[in-house]
Amino acid sequence: MKKVLITGAAGFLGSHLCDRFIKEGFHVIGMDNLITGDIKNVEHLFKLKQFEFYNHDVTKFVHIPGELDYILHFASPASPIDYLKIPIQTLKVGSLGTHNLLGLAKEKKARILIASTSEVYGDPLVHPQNEEYYGNVNTIGPRGVYDEAKRFQESITMAYHTYHGIETRIVRIFNTYGPRMRLNDGRVVPAFIGQALRGEDLTIFGDGLQTRSFCYVDDLIEGIYRLLFSDYVYPVNIGNPDEITIKDFAEEIIKLTGTDQKVIYKDLPVNDPLQRQPDISKAKEVLDWEPNVFRSEGMKLTLEYFKGFSEKELSKSDHRDFLNN
Ligand SMILES: NC(=O)c1ccc[n+]([C@@H]2O[C@H](COP(=O)([O-])OP(=O)(O)OC[C@H]3O[C@@H](n4cnc5c(N)ncnc54)[C@H](O)[C@@H]3O)[C@@H](O)[C@H]2O)c1
Repeated sequence: MKKVLITGAAGFLGSHLCDRFIKEGFHVIGMDNLITGDIKNVEHLFKLKQFEFYNHDVTKFVHIPGELDYILHFASPASPIDYLKIPIQTLKVGSLGTHNLLGLAKEKKARILIASTSEVYGDPLVHPQNEEYYGNVNTIGPRGVYDEAKRFQESITMAYHTYHGIETRIVRIFNTYGPRMRLNDGRVVPAFIGQALRGEDLTIFGDGLQTRSFCYVDDLIEGIYRLLFSDYVYPVNIGNPDEITIKDFAEEIIKLTGTDQKVIYKDLPVNDPLQRQPDISKAKEVLDWEPNVFRSEGMKLTLEYFKGFSEKELSKSDHRDFLNN
């Protein structure tokens, strides 16, 4: 049985990866320090012999006994609310954490895939964003802690590939949504759904004409799975190019939840990207991958998940801070 280490296992994406690798017959070691994750996301796997969970901070030395075949490094705060609250930890997990895991990959001769992000493109001047675009990031802006940690993460990963011959893969993930997102992480999907379910008006920051492209989690996991087993070492965008303005997206949520809320507008935050759309030509070419879950379908599944929350849980997340992520 091949063994895979998944960091950030108790988070939104990490927990879906654990499910997928278990389903594919792997022995899965989930690692997480629960700083933004929730153990409930992987509790259903605890009864399985082929699943282990280590409560560990990956910025500290990482030891795994025995052989290890693959590492997927997904540990990192991922929403602006989180990384603005814990900026130093965000920088550390992208830098020290990645360094530790690359060291582990070298020791075990394991293949490592790291989770990068569309945020490496910053507020992009090229649209849609392809992998050759170098980005437009403000190093000292509020998002710099995340964006630069991820850019460093890509650099050190390529350096380990070039100088140590480690097998590496880099995925640049664009906005992804689905069950197990945190209701109060400030990202636009749970934020809008939370507001709609609480009967509040939906808040948009700016004029709502900024665009986002949302990828359903199952599509993303499929793309990551294919990338890990491909022989492509350069970064690959995975996301859904179906672009929508935040304003139209808010209207879609109001329609979907069958409520009669309105949309209200607040000031645009600093360095909020105005456009976001992946160019997925590379993923199509090297992975034969493209998304196939329509937003209408994915949003229905996501809404079902959030409907399972109690009123008390819903009311705990009654802030819609300052973002359109
Ligand atoms: N969800 C998206 O749309 C998206 C987009 C781009 C990139 N990503 C990347 O994917 C990864 C996962 O994102 P997510 O949306 O699942 O976020 P998440 O917050 O749900 O999950 C991240 C997990 O990492 C854990 N973690 C953070 N620091 C850690 C540390 N030092 N040691 C051990 N565990 C630690 C957290 O507790 C959490 O469980 C991140 O690297 C993120 O940058 C996500």
